[in-house]
Amino acid sequence: MKIGVLTSGGDCPGLNAVIRAITRKGDQDGYEIIGILNGWKGLFDESYMKLDLKSVAGIVNRGGTILGTSRFGPFQQDNGAEILQHKVARAEFDALIAIGGEGSMHIAQQCHELGINVVGVPKTIDNDLNGTDYTFGFDTAVQIATDAIDRLHTTAESHHRVMILEVMGRHAGWIALYSGIAGGADAIVIPEKKVKIDDVCEVLKSRYKRGKLFSIIVVAEGAEYLLEELQIDEEGRKKDEFGRARLGGISYYLANEIEKRTGFDTRTTILGHVQRGGVPTAFDRVLGTRFGIYAVEMVTEKKFGRMCALQGADIVDIPIKKAISKLKTVELDIYKAAKVFFK
Ligand code: F6P
Repeated sequence: MKIGVLTSGGDCPGLNAVIRAITRKGDQDGYEIIGILNGWKGLFDESYMKLDLKSVAGIVNRGGTILGTSRFGPFQQDNGAEILQHKVARAEFDALIAIGGEGSMHIAQQCHELGINVVGVPKTIDNDLNGTDYTFGFDTAVQIATDAIDRLHTTAESHHRVMILEVMGRHAGWIALYSGIAGGADAIVIPEKKVKIDDVCEVLKSRYKRGKLFSIIVVAEGAEYLLEELQIDEEGRKKDEFGRARLGGISYYLANEIEKRTGFDTRTTILGHVQRGGVPTAFDRVLGTRFGIYAVEMVTEKKFGRMCALQGADIVDIPIKKAISKLKTVELDIYKAAKVFFK
């Protein structure tokens, strides 16, 4: 049995733990494991590397992906489907393991519909894939964002300032919500729960009246309704390879507006790719390892067109179709808990 493994989309702490687990389990089961370089593009380019015990030694704690990644969309290319089928056949892959987020799972589903044997492993720091309680990478991102809030706290307090931390989260505010709760944020602005800028300002003013001369706000990059309220048109934004607008920078508009409406000195920090880099937490290493082992078992059991997932304490598998049927947005009762502290 020859299995091709690829990582696709934005990178994520824990990817190497998955690759290592697939390789170790595959070796144990007598399979040949081939790494496809740079996501789906590697299939088109026929860029492969053999994965063996030596090539995955010492990588469980390493961030990024030893295979490289990209947001290359095979079905966006001329004759993409034919080329893909041809390349899979030419490489003699019996199955593919695609490690990726929502965009990559859409591609995996299309491959499945073409008759390519594929299983999915869910990955994204955004934690917005449906059907799995957590994706690996999320815990690491939350820890990094929480550390940043802790650091912003001391400088905010010293200077009597409002500090805004902007974190990733294209459609879902999971990172903002979890790090905001853990870091003791005074307001959390997420895509799922529309807030008015005046409401945020009210929180800051009421804190000021109570003698709290500083405040911390966490905002998810995808809270685009802020732009609508300010009537800012960001139409001409650059796009990524999947054709999605590149986000980032919304906190500058928010900071400006807060200063205008309250007179409070306000500063912005955009955490950006720092939250995707570096060593994964123990949680993400364990989750990635369990997903990797389970994915090989799924191939053995011919559970194609399915994605492994964490449900409660168990690793299970669900149809990829279900995983991409909708986005997993934040649970509003967790937001309600966070709101207790917005005063
Ligand atoms: O992986 C998803 C994500 O973290 C989004 O939250 C963010 O908008 C995007 O990646 C940015 O990634 P890149 O800069 O690689 O396009």
